[in-house]
Amino acid sequence: MTMDLFEPDNAGGPSLQTLGPGALVLRGFATAHETALWASLQDVLALAPFRHMRTPGGFRMSVAMTNCGALGWVTDRTGYRYDAADPQSGHPWPCMPESFLRLATNAAARGGFEGFVPDACLINRYAPGAKLSLHQDRNERDYGEPIVSVSLGLPAVFLFGGLARADRTTRVPLSHGDVVVWGGPARLRYHGVLPLAEGHHPLTGDYRINLTFRKAG
Ligand code: SIN
Ligand code: FE2
Repeated sequence: MTMDLFEPDNAGGPSLQTLGPGALVLRGFATAHETALWASLQDVLALAPFRHMRTPGGFRMSVAMTNCGALGWVTDRTGYRYDAADPQSGHPWPCMPESFLRLATNAAARGGFEGFVPDACLINRYAPGAKLSLHQDRNERDYGEPIVSVSLGLPAVFLFGGLARADRTTRVPLSHGDVVVWGGPARLRYHGVLPLAEGHHPLTGDYRINLTFRKAG
């Protein structure tokens, strides 16, 4: 893999853009599966609806979140963590749908990470104005496993930084169906999402949905 940004891959299939060693965007990788993903998402939401969690500092997050899989990422006044139970219902998080799992494993393999089997899927819902500040995904036990992040619906600008918070960031436009994979030397790179612009998408309406797959436990 080269250091060039946005170098196209001409091997066929959906186009691939590298963001540096261990990080890449698979353009439109999820688009063909949107119907199955959307149906599965509704099943998850019926059991574990979106909610606005609080940061340890007490702020309400602008992004609404829920989870599926054996573990779910949660934040509250006591901190960030993975929990096997949804704190809102007290029940285990909904099972990870087959369509989610297959997509995540296939995208990871396409990105060079064979055998990725996520046990956690954080589901983020962005309304216009919602954003995610620059952060590292570091609550997972094993940084040897990659992160797979699927964009559905309204477009967003993904900020992809370096291993230090102050490193310069690249703005990566993400559209419906795009999948970002980062792992190996890129696993702890800072990232975030700029405030979502207004819009309407035929699948998701006035929102952007992001599925972030991790091996957390
Ligand atoms: C995340 O960092 O958890 C989400 C990234 C995104 O929404 O694209
Ligand atoms: Fe993240």
